[in-house]
Amino acid sequence: MDLLTLLRQLAGELGVRHMLPSVVISADDDPGKPSRELIELALRAASRAADIQLPHLSQRLSAPPYWPDIWPGEHYRLLTALMQVTRPRLVIEIGTATGLSALAIKDGLPESSSIVTFDIVPWRDYPDYVLRPEDFADNRLQQIVADLTNRNLAKQYAALLAEADLLFVDAAKDGSMEATILDNFSAIGLKEGALLMFDDIRMIPMFPIWRRIALPKLDLTSFGHWSGTGLVRWSQRIPWCGVTPSAGATVQA
Ligand SMILES: C[S@@+](CC[C@H](N)C(=O)[O-])C[C@H]1O[C@@H](n2cnc3c(N)ncnc32)[C@H](O)[C@@H]1O
Repeated sequence: MDLLTLLRQLAGELGVRHMLPSVVISADDDPGKPSRELIELALRAASRAADIQLPHLSQRLSAPPYWPDIWPGEHYRLLTALMQVTRPRLVIEIGTATGLSALAIKDGLPESSSIVTFDIVPWRDYPDYVLRPEDFADNRLQQIVADLTNRNLAKQYAALLAEADLLFVDAAKDGSMEATILDNFSAIGLKEGALLMFDDIRMIPMFPIWRRIALPKLDLTSFGHWSGTGLVRWSQRIPWCGVTPSAGATVQA
């Protein structure tokens, strides 16, 4: 039986709504290690997320699942918590979709901070969007329709990107888009010490890119999104992409 057939059968037997294949890989030889600072930050954010409720966001959904109520497992409460704990002045999101994560981020920001969310689809054209015109009224939330995998567009927004204290990457999740975005970030230069959060790092197309990140990083999936949540501490001084030479892998089916 092939893997996909097995997964479909299992999903049915277990009553699973959504199942994706993933892999488990060794940590000792990962080119990017968790730093003490990231571990402490994640612990504070997870602890804060436990006390956060976002019923006003769930109310914007017309039917269950009410994603912001689900934690751990979905990332909305963790996003709000991370903003409360890190108090970034500017957040960049790549991947607006319905706008739910942008609202969760805005919810946790200090009054003087703002979020700019990028997508290739304008929010009003996204199915089941939850954003409303009044969400933009205070100018603390802005959407820019642009594809930052395009190097020229990335250069056009370089000054804005370089101002960001925190960047949330939740877009194509095919691994290649994220690699291009990271190459563009390196080329234009992000703020030293900016915090990056990646969604879906446990998905098969995403795990190679997550593995290659050679900066301080931490997988905090257990306190984020079930498909994978990762934090990275950015530095212009370290090439983001690295592979630890290995004598040969043990791969078990
Ligand atoms: C999974 S959704 C984002 C979900 C949202 N962040 C949330 O948590 O509620 C992915 C979004 O990424 C957008 N996207 C795909 N490729 C993109 C790109 N190159 N640049 C910006 N957005 C992109 C898609 O249009 C889609 O809206």
